[in-house]
This record gives sequence, structure tokens and C-alpha cells, in this order.
Amino acid sequence: MQPIDSGDLVLQNDKSSKQESLFHAIREKIVKQLWHKGGKLPSTRKLAEELQLSRNTVTAAYEQLAAEGYIEARSGSGFYVTVELPDHYLPCAGIVKSTETNKSIPSINSAFAPGVPDLHQFPIAKWHKYVQLHSTRQYLLGNNGIQGDSALRMALRDYLATSRSVHCDASQIIITSGAQQALMIALMAVMESHDSVLMEQPGYSKMRKIIELLNYRFEPVHVEEYVGFDLESIINSKARALYITPSNQYPMGTTLNTEQRLKLIEWATQGNHWIIEDDYDSEFQFAHRPYTSLQGLSSEIGHDSRVIYIGSLSKTMFNSLRMGYLIVPSALVEKCLAIKDALTGDSPTHIQAALADFISSGDFLRHIRKMRRLYKEKHHQMILSINEHFGDDAEVISQAAGLHVTLKWLKDVNEVTLSQKAFEKGIIIRPLSYYEHPDFKLRNWQGAVLGFGNISADDIDKKIKQIADLFYNLDSQL
Ligand SMILES: Cc1ncc(COP(=O)(O)O)c(C=O)c1O
Repeated sequence: MQPIDSGDLVLQNDKSSKQESLFHAIREKIVKQLWHKGGKLPSTRKLAEELQLSRNTVTAAYEQLAAEGYIEARSGSGFYVTVELPDHYLPCAGIVKSTETNKSIPSINSAFAPGVPDLHQFPIAKWHKYVQLHSTRQYLLGNNGIQGDSALRMALRDYLATSRSVHCDASQIIITSGAQQALMIALMAVMESHDSVLMEQPGYSKMRKIIELLNYRFEPVHVEEYVGFDLESIINSKARALYITPSNQYPMGTTLNTEQRLKLIEWATQGNHWIIEDDYDSEFQFAHRPYTSLQGLSSEIGHDSRVIYIGSLSKTMFNSLRMGYLIVPSALVEKCLAIKDALTGDSPTHIQAALADFISSGDFLRHIRKMRRLYKEKHHQMILSINEHFGDDAEVISQAAGLHVTLKWLKDVNEVTLSQKAFEKGIIIRPLSYYEHPDFKLRNWQGAVLGFGNISADDIDKKIKQIADLFYNLDSQL
């Protein structure tokens, strides 16, 4: 079979990254049968040179095509178009068509959507292998325990003990549908009606949704940029529970030091309050080693009876997995299980079994390590580009961690208008007001959250420049 001539491969600019453009361009050649079955693709080095892309971009696009069954790698020989078109060819063609008609509307996962990891880097082929293995197991087809797969709970216990110093037994872990369900169960388990809950302000808006839905009283804990929150306001509070993101405050990016954590633990233990620790993205710390979790610290000093620990796999794996976990003191397990039972019953079994294997095989940790390096590079590029295109007119106030940066500016450029204008250009940024309870706003500056997880490092500068152009244009219209 002749090698394929890639001379007329054209990359469209409407995709969120070069890798995605290349993926779509090659896929189109294959599904239109212009590149024939068995044809050999150009080497990654050659194609990278021809299209002036980085070799990593080409390799990632090839890996994605291989994962979806369009091409295959033959060891030592290169990549070839596969014999059979994948089953999902027809639905895919449909999706391509519908995005063409909606070109101006950005995908909710595109740059700079906060909270989305790099979906192109996830090792889909490996994951698929584990899912496939378990989906053929008949004994997994029936009902299952509410608490979740025990192999998965043990794998999480071991992973969290080493990576986050979380100290627990697998019997204290409950598998949930994302951190979202864990937050809901935790609140329902500890609150009585008319109780109030302390919550960071600005803070995670989906937690506020739960508080409002369940009609609990909202007590704001004001978070100041760089400084964090005033501990005294908590120590004097009679609230039943405190919701916090102590390792990377969302979205201001501050952290609680050990002394502050100890004071909170003392407040909770002495006054019978609850601490709900949301440890949503602590795997990704770029400037130093992550702080020990508050749960870990409290168990070290023998006071972990009032701390509930919540984690998510949305950022370390991918969002649509909808897997999270809740770790509660033993005395609270039964109550949480009764709530989960009433809300959703058990969790998807194949996925839990696949996840247990993915974690205990080491693939999970390998992926996290790789992504930590990659996100560190992207974070670095974000800072460079923001400095370059905004100069002194906007500053990054969040620490070097997680998958987003938080921008602050004093110029008279409205954060909501800026986000709307960016949206019209196909870019998502979140105004800081999105994270605030409208009754408790204290800011006299403007700001926005920019997620860099799901954008390629090569595309960051161009998109930041686009936002800066809008920023200075809006400014000149005032
Ligand atoms: C503060 C915070 N907690 C939790 C999560 C994860 O939620 P889930 O597991 O429901 O996707 C996120 C995701 O963006 C978050 O920002």
C-alpha cells in the first residue's frame, strides 16, 4: 500500500485547538474514504514539519484517532488507516454537521471554561480496555451495594492515604455521582432545617445551589484576595457546618495554613460543628508540595470526628465520568447511606469496577503525574500571556495550582460585559460575580476566572490576546 500523501490536508480554524483541527481533518479524509484502508500515514515528525505544528500536537491527534478506531499503530512501523470504519462513524458525521451550523456558540468545554481537564490527553484506549473487560461480566449486571464497589473504595483509600494524607478505612468511603452528590449528602446528613451553613464568598456556586434548594440559611465567609478568610468570623459562628476548599480556595486561589486548619478543627470539635472539606483539585499544585488535607491533619491529632472529606474524579479523570466520593466519620456512615439510597440508589457498577482497576494498576497515578507537568506548563504560559497582553492592568490573584487562574482588575471594564463579548468570540470566561451570593457582595474591583485545563499550550497566547483586545476595546467605549 502506498504511503498517504498529506499535501492537501487543510486545518480549519474553527476548532478549539490545533490538535482538534488536525484530528478532524484526518478523520474527514478517512470517513470520506479519500485515505484508504491500510494506507500509511506520514510520520509524526514529517507531518509536524509540513503543517508547522509541534510534534506533540501531531502525536496527540494520532493517539486520539487510534483510540477512536480510525487508525492503528504498528510497532516500529508507524500509523495505518484501519480496515473497518468504527461503528460510531455515522453519529460522528452528524455531530460535525451540527457544530458547523452553530459555529459562533462555544462548546461549554472549550477555552477557558473553568473546571474542565485536558480531555485530549486522557488515555482513552487504556480506560476503554478496563471498561470493556468489566462490561462483559454478567455478575455485574444486577443491583449493587449503595456504598459502592469495595475494590474501588480500597483503591481510593490507598491512593488518598499517600497523595493527600487522608486517613480512613474503606468502610468510611461512599462512592457518589460526582462531588456534587457528595456535597448534597453531607449537608443533608448533618443539617437540621433552619440551621445555617458557613460558606466561602466568593465560593463554589454549585454548593450554594444545594444550600438554596434545601432551604438552609447561608452565612457568608468573606474571602480576600491573597489573604483568605478571617478566622474570627468562623470561630464566633454558631453555624452547624462550614463548607471550605482549604487547599485551593475556589475561586480566589488562597490556602489555609496549618495553624488555621488546627483552629478550625478545634472550633468544630469543641462546638460540635461540622467541617465539609472539598478537596476538588489538590493533585495539581505547581509551586510546592500540596498541603496535607484537613481530614488527614485532624486524624493525626485524633480529632477527625467532625470532618467530612469530599473528592472528585472530574479533574483527574474527565467530567462526564460523574464519579466522586465522600469520606465520613464511622458514626455518620449509615445516615449518609440512607440518604444516598433515597436519592439515587447504587452507582454504575461497570464504571466503578473499571475505575478500581485503573487506580490500582497505577494508570491513574501515571496520568496525574503527566498532567501535573502539563498543567504546570500551561499555567506558566497563562501567566506569561496575561503579563504580556494586560501589563499592569490586570493581575493574577490565584496561587499556582489547579486548572484555572483568577484575574483581578481595577479598570472600568465590566466583568459580565467582558464575558459576554468573549462568548460571542467563542471564548468562555466566568465573571467573578458568578461565584457570589448577590446579597453579600463586598468587592470594589472586577474579575474573572479562566480555566486552562482544556486548551492546548500552543493556543493560550492567541486566546488571551483576543480577550485583552476586547478588554481594551470595552475600556475605550466608556
Ligand atoms: C470547588 C469544586 N468542587 C467540586 C468540583 C467537582 O464537582 P463534580 O465532581 O460534581 O464534577 C468542582 C468542579 O469544578 C469544583 O470547582
